[in-house]
Amino acid sequence: MKSSQPAVLDLRSEPYTRGYYRVLSPAQMSVALESRGVCGPDLSAPLNCFELGMGFGLPLVAHAACFPHMRFYGNDFNREHVTYASQLAKDAGLTNVEVFEDSFEKLLDRDLPPMDIISMHGVYSWISPKVRKMVLRFIAERLRPGGTFYVSYNALPGWAAQMPLRELVNLHGLRQVSVGATPVERLSQTLDFLDDFARVNPMYFEQDISVRARLGGLRSLDPHYAAHEYFNPDWHPMHFHQVASEMADVGLEFAAPALLSEQVDNAILSQPTRDLLSSVGDPILRETMRDFVLNKSFRWDLYTRGASRASAAQTAQFRKDRGWLLATARSEGITGPLVAGTTTYMDAPTTCRLLDALSEGPATARELSLRPGLEQLDADYIVDALLLLEDEGQVHPALPVALRDSARDSVRRFNTAVMQRPAEDGLHYLSCSASGRAMGWSTIALAQIRAAYQGALTVDDMVHAMRPQFEGDGDGQVPAKQLAHSAGRFFASRAPVLRHLGLL
Ligand SMILES: C[S@@+](CC[C@H](N)C(=O)[O-])C[C@H]1O[C@@H](n2cnc3c(N)ncnc32)[C@H](O)[C@@H]1O
Repeated sequence: MKSSQPAVLDLRSEPYTRGYYRVLSPAQMSVALESRGVCGPDLSAPLNCFELGMGFGLPLVAHAACFPHMRFYGNDFNREHVTYASQLAKDAGLTNVEVFEDSFEKLLDRDLPPMDIISMHGVYSWISPKVRKMVLRFIAERLRPGGTFYVSYNALPGWAAQMPLRELVNLHGLRQVSVGATPVERLSQTLDFLDDFARVNPMYFEQDISVRARLGGLRSLDPHYAAHEYFNPDWHPMHFHQVASEMADVGLEFAAPALLSEQVDNAILSQPTRDLLSSVGDPILRETMRDFVLNKSFRWDLYTRGASRASAAQTAQFRKDRGWLLATARSEGITGPLVAGTTTYMDAPTTCRLLDALSEGPATARELSLRPGLEQLDADYIVDALLLLEDEGQVHPALPVALRDSARDSVRRFNTAVMQRPAEDGLHYLSCSASGRAMGWSTIALAQIRAAYQGALTVDDMVHAMRPQFEGDGDGQVPAKQLAHSAGRFFASRAPVLRHLGLL
């Protein structure tokens, strides 16, 4: 090793990706908990929500717009991240956002109110055991009784097979690439070297046939994400039972998978697997075994501090009487069967009938089960289909109308602020007041929504508003005829969906 090589890289000022994660929405958490029979956060209350290690804070600000009666706090020790989140909130005129350029250690000394929701996405596996203890202390001291903690992390056994490859990438990147290289350059040079290495057929590459595919996959990852994943000094994938035990030390218990589709065991697990798992009495062992069944490499989980359990009747009511919204216009939505893993959960005609029924407006599973062509389906079966369709981006759980109405102005201000940002900023998520979460859009779709915000009511208005952005002969050029065709589709099929979502 050259003596000037760093033993570890300091990624603290390295920008991360500007991702949006719907699992961080209080609305999503509430549905995930209630579907599992746990009383979730009361969304009409003035809740305090804290996001630890928020990165650029896009979800935090997008959700602050959806829930103007709540307060959203966040921290990150990367100044660029915190400045970005703070500016975005300011541009959107949101006064319910407070973000701190604090390390987790410094955060412990901050004067903060008790929190109803604490969340941490993509951080728990990438900090040292010592820093993890500080995070756990924060939760122990700040999460209210009955409160919710969301955490995601790299999980075992799914990561186990990739660990030697990660080690090799890390080792080469730290020991062989020159000191001045950025993490992204470092990754690129390391991958070039590993391609050369693969050509001499190391036995590890030969005997574990998935290695070459994994190596190939590394090139297609977002380089900022990959640099954090592969060069972070701390990287600790964990088994479910290990995380559950750390949570138990601060009084939390596992409540539900945060991804709705992961709750539909009937679709995900075979009958013999379900039978076997249900014979395992210990819930921690059972959930850990489930990760072996699915070879999980990432978990998104909700824990609570003694939240009340709903009765079976209440849970059935939550499930069947929750409203659902179509999120993708039918002309752009799925037309095939609803498939989960390798199982066909619902055939194509029934799936289309279900989604077509939602294109008429928001409806509950109970109401949908009375619609023509769906009467033969049990409402509970429809709920599970909707939980799966949510993962496909086809539907959103709806918020009560009063919440949607109270967020209209703040959501519009947030969306306007997003659409006013320069194109190179790359922000393409807009909030929906009717579902309390954001959605990503293509450049053309964003331009159409911007034109509609500015008052375009006809195809001609829209084309006129969009022309300056898309004319010329650069890469992003789109002929006027194509703009007109797409604007026609926007008014005919997308705009009604956007209105139901509270985005227009
Ligand atoms: C992998 S990124 C995830 C960011 C964000 N949660 C997301 O998913 O987009 C990890 C984040 O945690 C922050 N972070 C890591 N260690 C930290 C610490 N000790 N104190 C404060 N922030 C920290 C990093 O700056 C980075 O923004």
